[in-house]
Amino acid sequence: MSNNMRKILVTAALPYANGPLHLGHMVEYIQPDIWVRFQRLIGNTCHFVCGDDAHGTPIMLRAEKENMTPEALIAKSYTEHTADLEAFNISFDNFYTTHSPENKALATEIYQKLLAGSDITKRTIKQAFDPIKNLFLPDRYVKGECPKCGAQDQYGDSCEQCGATYSPIELKNPISVISGATPIEKESEHYFFCLDHYEAFLKEWTKNGHLQPEVTKKLAEWFTSGLQQWDISRDAPYFGFEIPNAPGKYFYVWLDAPIGYMASFKNLCNKNSTLSFEEYWSKDSATELYHFIGKDIVYFHALFWPAVLTASGFRTPTNIFVHGFLTINGQKMSKSRGTFINARTYLDHLNPEYLRYYFASKLGTGIDDIDFHMEDFVARINSDLVGKLVNIASRCAGFITT
Ligand code: 2FM
Ligand code: ZN
Repeated sequence: MSNNMRKILVTAALPYANGPLHLGHMVEYIQPDIWVRFQRLIGNTCHFVCGDDAHGTPIMLRAEKENMTPEALIAKSYTEHTADLEAFNISFDNFYTTHSPENKALATEIYQKLLAGSDITKRTIKQAFDPIKNLFLPDRYVKGECPKCGAQDQYGDSCEQCGATYSPIELKNPISVISGATPIEKESEHYFFCLDHYEAFLKEWTKNGHLQPEVTKKLAEWFTSGLQQWDISRDAPYFGFEIPNAPGKYFYVWLDAPIGYMASFKNLCNKNSTLSFEEYWSKDSATELYHFIGKDIVYFHALFWPAVLTASGFRTPTNIFVHGFLTINGQKMSKSRGTFINARTYLDHLNPEYLRYYFASKLGTGIDDIDFHMEDFVARINSDLVGKLVNIASRCAGFITT
């Protein structure tokens, strides 16, 4: 057995550090946890790491709204998240944070390698700017009328009515969601990663892997529409890591988030001297690396991430396992319908094993959404766990005592 023992590193998507975990998050952590426990049971070495995704504009603004520093907000989220994950028996070897010295050092190192390899280019772009808050506005912070169909109250990136995609400066009658002001267009210099340099590599990588068929299909669509250069910088004020030799410019949260997987493992290695970071992350690594993610973040993990890793001389993932979203009673989780369930609310009332079992019974290799249907949940727990499993246990217990 020991000769065939595989060495595996598994990650689950990093939750944002701006609020509590909900049941949708628990799909993300329960699925890999079951996979990891299985690997360990059959004798493989399997490390499982995660952490909070602590940077970006939403975290900065949430902290401001709550009259806290971003550091205090992410510390509070960290305490809540780790307590919930532990209560659901998620067997992480390390749960860290992207706002860490390890992540800063790795993000800087990777950026410098991209720069040295001529994979970074600079140019000036125009973006929506809030003249009251003095802040460049992320797409989701601008609302207005769809430039294609005229639907009201649409976000700055796409129209929910007609499906059109556009940039926020194309919206008609735009407003800033933060201040209500009319955004102005403002120029600023940005840093781009030349994803287009890695088109041939990515086409090969996505073929060599064992991606789920739905993911392969999505990637084929992206290749057809062409790989765009990726804007990895954001202007101050921003909560994140400042770009070396670029005062007032910060790494976009999505640059340092997946690097957070490496940083969490690095931190684990720092705490455990028998583990080697290089063994798992060097280009010629003989170990396996798997990322469990939701279907909304495939672009980041199947295109940007392998390209960034290759460009900076690290190994690439062995595979990416994608799951669908969680619906409640067949519908999107909703605060107004009372179906937005926080992990803590669930724990206050029910046994975490019930949810683990229910998700396990519903999850498979597909990327379809999975439904938490209340009546079905009660029926399944009563029939499978209580009716069958506990029944068998109590009958066996009877044999032992008599
Ligand atoms: O979509 C999200 O919730 C992100 N916080 C996931 C990041 S995963 C990884 F890349 F860091
Ligand atoms: Zn529209």
